[in-house]
Amino acid sequence: MLCRRILLVFLCVKAAFGAYKLQERYGWNQMDFAFPNPLMKEQARRSGDYIPQNALPVGVEQYKEKLFVTIPRWRDGIPATLAYINMEHSLSGSPELIPYPDWRSNFAGDCANSLTTVYRIKVDECGRLWVLDTGTLGIGNTTTNPCPYAVNVFDLTTNTRIRRYELNPEDTNPNTFIANIAVDIGKDCDDAFAYFSDELGYGLIAYSWEQNKSWRFSSHSYFFPDPLRGDYNIAGLNFQWGEEGIFGMALSPLKSDGYRTLFFSPLASHREFAVSTRILRDETRVEDSYHDFIVMDERGPNSHTTSRVMSNDGIMLFNLIDQNSVGCWHSSMPYLPQYHGIVDRDDVGLVFPADIKIDENRNVWVLSDRMPVFLLADLDYTDVNFRIYTAPLDDLIQNTICDIKSNIFGPANAVGIGYKSQFQRNQKEKTVVPVPPTNYIIRNNQLQQTSSQPGSDIFTKPQYHVGQPISVVPVKPQPQIPAPPPTTTVLVKAQKIPLSDVPKAFIYNQHNGLSYETMSPIDYQDLPYKTYSVGGAASSAKWPGGPTRTLWGGSAGQVDKQSSSS
Ligand SMILES: *[C@@H]1O[C@H](CO)[C@@H](O)[C@H](O)[C@H]1NC(C)=O
Ligand SMILES: *[C@@H]1O[C@H](CO)[C@@H](O)[C@H](O)[C@H]1NC(C)=O
Repeated sequence: MLCRRILLVFLCVKAAFGAYKLQERYGWNQMDFAFPNPLMKEQARRSGDYIPQNALPVGVEQYKEKLFVTIPRWRDGIPATLAYINMEHSLSGSPELIPYPDWRSNFAGDCANSLTTVYRIKVDECGRLWVLDTGTLGIGNTTTNPCPYAVNVFDLTTNTRIRRYELNPEDTNPNTFIANIAVDIGKDCDDAFAYFSDELGYGLIAYSWEQNKSWRFSSHSYFFPDPLRGDYNIAGLNFQWGEEGIFGMALSPLKSDGYRTLFFSPLASHREFAVSTRILRDETRVEDSYHDFIVMDERGPNSHTTSRVMSNDGIMLFNLIDQNSVGCWHSSMPYLPQYHGIVDRDDVGLVFPADIKIDENRNVWVLSDRMPVFLLADLDYTDVNFRIYTAPLDDLIQNTICDIKSNIFGPANAVGIGYKSQFQRNQKEKTVVPVPPTNYIIRNNQLQQTSSQPGSDIFTKPQYHVGQPISVVPVKPQPQIPAPPPTTTVLVKAQKIPLSDVPKAFIYNQHNGLSYETMSPIDYQDLPYKTYSVGGAASSAKWPGGPTRTLWGGSAGQVDKQSSSS
């Protein structure tokens, strides 16, 4: 807080070197586990059952005082794959990880009773922890499968496992690698589904809690990697993860039709896709839903992501692994780079922000782990390699484009200003839609020809006017967002944007095939005028009677903390 205020007078030097809004809560040079006693720890070390340098944390999740951390068994000597920190006992520092629910349940290869390897996990709103055990040991060409893939659900009140379900052989294939999970709660806690993204087998698996049954959406081309997006530059390493398909997933809040929207992106891709859970929940649609999946825009350059999450008011956070940062998008806005913000960036601490979660108190948790260095080079164990950060969601999005209540100037720190949307590019093609001529009526969901002769209105073949431009719901033009004034000194009175010019994202997105209902409409009319000035990469704004605030802005691209604090 102090730092933020000092930033206004460009004196806060420390901010140039660390995350700005995310607060580092825990950090480790190497992971450490809480053995029952020091003697057992020492014995495990000597026998090779415990090799601390081999542990890479990849997933984080929070429930009450427990902060869960997952560690895949990629190498030998990982004593537990699912563990937690008791945050009441360990407020900060480098706490030992406590196996969850206990040591017995973390015994590799004991398929029925234990977890072998766990990646990302999810706490649901009904006090359950959803865990997919991949049953694997090793990584890449060292992988062995002592156990099958199995869904494990724990009751967080009693800390007991209440469900184990092995995926069907048809749910996976020889290439399957599942590292991500999304949990979809419908009308009540029994109406629950989990979705698993098969990154290397290119599938999306749905599991119904009520039916205790799973099915797989296979080989949709949107699950595949983009061959042009397989190159990565992270932490000074250049490498290719070209085969990586569907990975990060986030579910929207429930919409008025009773379903959510699942957003996803392949890892080797900059593009976002979406599908309604109405499709995913319906086993009969596995072979017959190609056109129900929706193509959205690309995020812009250097925007590979592996993890994302959406708040219950529709704000998506996603990791930007090439940019050592966490991005945001308010889902009431079009999915376009100019509506994506950077909530925080740190070229040391946020190298590979592997997982992001939002807890029930709207606190965000970010785990960073330098994964490419671990896999492709060597970590320096004299340095802090693994960190867990936290910050309130509303602090994180403040002064970004995702803080739409404060953003009457439009994209202040947007990632890709000037980008031409797919919608703009495809506008012409998109005018081909079915339209009933005036002498047809819709009856029983069918187009029916009407006639002056009674009884002859049984003709049901739909008539499509294909290829002709026809008038459909008029598209609201994207509003002209006033550019910041080209001056570094003058305070100017901002123009109030009339309500009619506020982006009508849902109209845009309906044309993209999506209908967003994640936010009640924002009443821009209540927003006060504000004045602002622009200075270099940073600008500040002042509401009459309100505090002066810093807006990140100026150059399109990214938040540039260095230049604003030098
Ligand atoms: C596995 O792959 C690594 C590098 O990708 C290679 O160095 C190693 O020889 C491979 N091992 C086997 C058993 O194929
Ligand atoms: C769910 O299915 C699994 C089979 O994988 C079975 O072992 C388990 O008992 C079932 N659970 C319930 C609650 O039906």
